Amino acid sequence: IVKVDAAKIDKTVIEKAADIIKNGGLVAFPTETVYGLGANALDADASKKIYEAKGRPSDNPLIIHISNWEALGEIVKEIPEKAELLAQAFWPGPLTMILPKSEEVPYQTTGGLNTVAVRMPSHPVALEFIREAGGYVAAPSANLSGKPSPTKAKYVVQDMDGRIDMIIDGDGVDIGLESTIVDLTGDKPMILRPGYITKEMLEIALCAQHNNGGLDIDMWWQTNVPHLFAAGEIAASYIIGLQSQGVMASIKHFAANNQEFRRMSISAEIDERTFREIYLGAFETAIKEAKPYTVMCSYNRINGEFASEDHRLLTEILRDEWGFEGHVVSDCW
Ligand code: TXA
Ligand code: MG
Repeated sequence: IVKVDAAKIDKTVIEKAADIIKNGGLVAFPTETVYGLGANALDADASKKIYEAKGRPSDNPLIIHISNWEALGEIVKEIPEKAELLAQAFWPGPLTMILPKSEEVPYQTTGGLNTVAVRMPSHPVALEFIREAGGYVAAPSANLSGKPSPTKAKYVVQDMDGRIDMIIDGDGVDIGLESTIVDLTGDKPMILRPGYITKEMLEIALCAQHNNGGLDIDMWWQTNVPHLFAAGEIAASYIIGLQSQGVMASIKHFAANNQEFRRMSISAEIDERTFREIYLGAFETAIKEAKPYTVMCSYNRINGEFASEDHRLLTEILRDEWGFEGHVVSDCW
C-alpha cells in the first residue's frame, strides 16, 4: 500500500503501479466514486485474476476505465451521437456507458457479452494511472464479492490484503457511490444502475442538443415485474449478478430522497432514529404491501465503517418488527 497525494502526484509510484498492470497484475486505485480493482482490460488472463481476487462469478462483466476520449474508439464498434453528448456532459466523471464492444476487448473482460461498459473517471490519480498503464484498465469495485464497495484504502486492505499486488492510497473518495450505468445499445437509453448522475441530468444533456424536450430514458428496474425490492440507489446493478447465479429476479427500486442520502454520507454519525426515519421509511410500505421474497440494500454512500452495522440493524428490524421472512442481501458485487 502506497500513499499518493492527488494534488501532487508522485510519478514513481504511478510508474510502479503501471508496470504491475502491464505485466498482468492487479492494482487497487482510487476513483471519485469508489476504489477500483484494476487489471489490463485487453489481457484476458489479467481480467480472470480480478474475478479470483474478488471471489466474483466470472460472467459478471467489468467496466473498462479510460483516460481520454480517443481511447473509446478502440474498444467499441461505433460511437453513437448520444454517447458523444453524454461524454461531453459527464466525462471525466461518474457515468458508465454500455456500447457494442470491438474485437480488441476479450470476452473475459465483458463476462462473455458483446457489449462493453466504459467509464472515464475524474480522479486525477486514476487518470494518471490509467494513462501510464496503457490506457485500458478493467476495474470492478475493490471489495470482496458480498462486501460493500470501499471508499477508503483501509477498507481495500481489509478485503484484498494478500490477494493483489498493490494498493494506491489516494485517501477518501469524493462521491462514495458507484457510477450511474446507462445502456446505449438499444433504441432508448436505459439506466441499468442508478448513481450520482440522475435520469434528469442525463435527459438534460441529451435534450439540450436534440431540442425535442421529450427524450425519454428507460430505467431497467421499472420495465420489469417488481417482485424483488431494493433500497439504496445502486441496487439495480445486482440483478445481473443474481441472474448469473440462476436467480430469477427483477427489481423495483425504492430510495430515500437524494438530498438526505447525500447529507447523511457527509455527517460523521447516523443514529438509529435518523436511520429509521430516512433510510427505512423509503421502503417500509413496499415491503409490507408487496411481500417481496428478497430485500436488497446498498450502503455505499455511508462510509464503510457503518455498513455492516446498518445491515445488522436493517435485518433485525425487518425480521423482528415487520415479520419479514425472505432474504436480506446487502451490497454485493
Ligand atoms: O463507480 C464505479 O462504477 C466503480 C468504479 C471502480 O469505477 N466500479 C464498479 O464496478 O462499480 P463493479 O464491477 O463493481 O460494477 C459494475 C456493474 C456490474 O454490476 C456489472 O454487472 C455491470 O456494471 N456491467 C458491466 N459491464 C456490463 C455490460 N456490458 N452490460 C451490462 N452490465 C454491465
Ligand atoms: Mg461492485
